[in-house]
Amino acid sequence: MNAIEMIGLTKKFGNLTAVDSLNLTVSEGVSFGFLGPNGAGKTTTMRMLVGQLRPTSGIVKTWGLDPFTEGIEAKKYFGFVPSFYSFYDSLSARENLDFLASLSQVPRNERKKRIDELLDFFDLSERADSKVGEFSHGMMQRLAIAQALLAHPRLLILDEPTVGLDPKGQHEIREFIKSISREGVTIFISSHILSEVEDMCNSVGIIDKGRLIRVGSLENLKAELSSRQGLEIRIEGESLQQSLNRIERVEGVLGLKADGNTISVKVSSRDITPLVVATIVGSGGKITSVDEIVPTLEDVYLKLTE
Ligand SMILES: Nc1ncnc2c1ncn2[C@@H]1O[C@H](COP(=O)(O)OP(=O)(O)OP(=O)(O)O)[C@@H](O)[C@H]1O
Ligand SMILES: [Mg+2]
Repeated sequence: MNAIEMIGLTKKFGNLTAVDSLNLTVSEGVSFGFLGPNGAGKTTTMRMLVGQLRPTSGIVKTWGLDPFTEGIEAKKYFGFVPSFYSFYDSLSARENLDFLASLSQVPRNERKKRIDELLDFFDLSERADSKVGEFSHGMMQRLAIAQALLAHPRLLILDEPTVGLDPKGQHEIREFIKSISREGVTIFISSHILSEVEDMCNSVGIIDKGRLIRVGSLENLKAELSSRQGLEIRIEGESLQQSLNRIERVEGVLGLKADGNTISVKVSSRDITPLVVATIVGSGGKITSVDEIVPTLEDVYLKLTE
């Protein structure tokens, strides 16, 4: 069964369509990165996913259950880390977790063990009895993930969990999420940082202005990129125009641009590179450097969402 299924999922706020006909499935065990710029509709999608918002139209299911109308059942399967989690500042970490465990139907006799386990896992044991009001942002974020895991969910949904953290704090959170994923928990995480998603996820979807504009495995997306390679070749002297005419006729050359002494060539694959170089040399060109340009996921993301 799919961990997540969205069919034509749409949310309108008055005239604004925040989420527009989303079709998306996430299989069990996948670590899915939900990418998009500010205002793209990530949080709105997630709030529908966890039953906080009713869709205007369309279907959303977690493990076959509608999180809005079958919330009590559906909530047994997922834990949610919203972008801002508010704890009771005057209670300790342990007291907050204990209170939340009682709400999320963790059996009373298992509570203490589960809470100790989570405090230990998130390196919070030493501060377990400190008031949460005294916690750093990084500690709060770890506690926010801990609360989502109290009832052993099979799906963990996180809305930009590393926002506002320093590099060390971001790294810690990523490592925790990867290790939760390794235990078999399905992950659905939103972010606008591509490198972060690349590090944690094996599947990605890119949302922009409410619409899903790309979805697939990270491998496929990367394969798609490597087939759109380019070359930058610097040439000495006067031979530029002559070289250009000949390169244009090489099979596999998709585009050509000259700027000063530099020729930029779009090629269908990197196998063409030697042929292009030979052609330039054959036409009397003196090559000073050849650089292969491979677009990064970051480039594609920026291009798709510009
Ligand atoms: N309750 C609401 N009422 C009206 N408009 C809303 C509401 N919630 C979100 N929106 C609008 O819906 C659009 C999508 O917002 P959303 O918060 O889902 O984006 P996001 O991708 O999470 O952005 P960010 O990266 O900034 O968190 C925005 O234009 C936002 O202003
Ligand atoms: Mg958001």
